Amino acid sequence: MKDFIQGLPKVELHLHIEGTLEPELMFELAQRNKVNIPFSSPQAVRDAYQFHNLQSFLDIYYQGANVLITEQDFFDLTWAYLLRCREDNVIHTEIFFDPQTHTERGIAFETVINGITRALDQAQSQLDISSQLIMCFLRHLDEEAAFETLEQAMPFKDKIIAVGLDSSELGHPPEKFARVFQSAREAGFLTVAHAGEEGPAQNILDAIYMLGISRIDHGVRCVENTELVRQLAESQMPLTVCPLSNIKLKVFDNMEQHNIVDLLETGLCVTINSDDPAYFGGYMTDNFVAVVDAHPISHQQIAQFSLNAIEASFIENTQKVTLS
Ligand code: ADE
Ligand code: ZN
Repeated sequence: MKDFIQGLPKVELHLHIEGTLEPELMFELAQRNKVNIPFSSPQAVRDAYQFHNLQSFLDIYYQGANVLITEQDFFDLTWAYLLRCREDNVIHTEIFFDPQTHTERGIAFETVINGITRALDQAQSQLDISSQLIMCFLRHLDEEAAFETLEQAMPFKDKIIAVGLDSSELGHPPEKFARVFQSAREAGFLTVAHAGEEGPAQNILDAIYMLGISRIDHGVRCVENTELVRQLAESQMPLTVCPLSNIKLKVFDNMEQHNIVDLLETGLCVTINSDDPAYFGGYMTDNFVAVVDAHPISHQQIAQFSLNAIEASFIENTQKVTLS
């Protein structure tokens, strides 16, 4: 089964580039940029990754990002992830980046995006991996900051396919960003949003109706509203589910309790993704294997996750046919 998963062509739709910062690279960049980090070794960093909810993870994750300073740092970060994609037979990836995590520290927007896109271009030509970029607004910051970020993105519009919404879901519902998402849509961006990860099913409905999203990131708490589940099955609105992340952040107690296979069998367009693989203990293949180890599931169903991801991706429709 592991060989089948390894060889299966995969498409990743929920991946935070800052969440691919492995402790070894964190150390290398800290030294290169003379940034102090409160750890004595990469192993000490790993040992600190004990989370009890989303916020306890985010606090460590934003601290880790402090070592990213130059365009080369963003290139190195992205290139390391793309090499992992090649190992896992990920043929297409749609990557989130959080500009505010960096602009708040005085790093220019263009430093971030130029480093990332240089690596993406190189992956297309050297690794035959295609990609898209999704710019996320940090929902714990205010609407005005999101509008400023949207403004900063405008000169790079051709490099960004969509805007998204991430960070602390509790206390920061979709409606807080309804106006900035409307402006983004008017400017030609597609939209996605994290919803129903830690927050209630109502956040999924609000993200659909108030933010005009094309995909729901996570969405696993949809099961708390039967009518919503029926709607999601009917509309085939994709859910980008992140199994290992959900266990690490205690959304489910263990993988056996995870609802991803139930959702697949109910006919929802669910996909498997790695979210923040350097923090949650696994990239794409690891996430597939973790699901399969905990649930009886056929080869056909495993392949369905990949077919769903192709369908849910922002790849041109003509190209989707070739990939399927
Ligand atoms: N930022 C990075 N990973 C995230 C997650 N799982 N949920 C919300 N915001 C995030
Ligand atoms: Zn996420």
